[in-house]
Amino acid sequence: MDEHSKINLAFWDEVTPHHARSDHYAIERFIADPDRLGAVESAEIGDVSGRSICHLQCHLGLDTLSLAHRGGTVTGVDFSAESIKFARELSIRTGIPARFVQSDVLTAAETLGETYDLVFTTRGVLMWIGDLAAWARSCARLLRPGGVFYLLDLHPLGMLLQQTGAGLELTGSYFGSAEPSITAEDASYAVSDVGLTHQETHEWIHPVGKVLTALIDAGIMIDFLHEHPADDHAPTTLSPTDTAPGIPDLPALYSIRGHLPQTARSVP
Ligand SMILES: C[S@@+](CC[C@H](N)C(=O)[O-])C[C@H]1O[C@@H](n2cnc3c(N)ncnc32)[C@H](O)[C@@H]1O
Repeated sequence: MDEHSKINLAFWDEVTPHHARSDHYAIERFIADPDRLGAVESAEIGDVSGRSICHLQCHLGLDTLSLAHRGGTVTGVDFSAESIKFARELSIRTGIPARFVQSDVLTAAETLGETYDLVFTTRGVLMWIGDLAAWARSCARLLRPGGVFYLLDLHPLGMLLQQTGAGLELTGSYFGSAEPSITAEDASYAVSDVGLTHQETHEWIHPVGKVLTALIDAGIMIDFLHEHPADDHAPTTLSPTDTAPGIPDLPALYSIRGHLPQTARSVP
């Protein structure tokens, strides 16, 4: 694991117990009604019953367990030991079986040693990944021939635009950089002022075209690329739940679905 990931891991391990108590994740509500997949991903992945699913960057496991509740056989993967520990406890508390494995997403195929009908990764994932080519190859290696890949993530434009009194301000380059932007705040998208000692995070902007090309280079055939306005599931600067009013005319999320060809040779 490189230095950037080590710093991000320290942040995620520390913030996870706070997320587990947060209103954003509303764990008790989830236990009472264990399906919190958003409308966009629900419509775009369709029926998952009977399918083997690998959920990358699963965090507290709510989406993992939602997929399992809908009939999938699901393995959740996250590099944070705290996330995996909480997700396993939540599986027991909800009575919904799922497997949770601690692994860096870049080495998940080697860690898991099996392939899946669906690789699913959503809402706040690629900003933590520096090496897009390695990430795409890892996703492809997790797919069985004919298996489906699905990504729903924060749109880089939505991540870069900040509301100011004067309107919208672009806070960085849409084309991103090999070097991450480094910030330190006693906060996340779900909590603030919780006394974090590991506040520093290293995050990347990946333009949509580069993400798509990395997946194509890894051997994934693209079915669609969709751009979406914000919804309540993913607070962003463009979100309707943010303090500023939502901006439905700009994309806050994008999704890519693809598949590995039936005749796929092994992914390098
Ligand atoms: C914003 S959360 C994902 C949110 C999730 N979709 C949800 O709704 O709860 C990002 C997750 O990515 C994980 N993560 C970040 N970098 C990772 C890496 N290199 N390998 C595996 N997991 C990683 C973090 O531990 C965290 O749980």
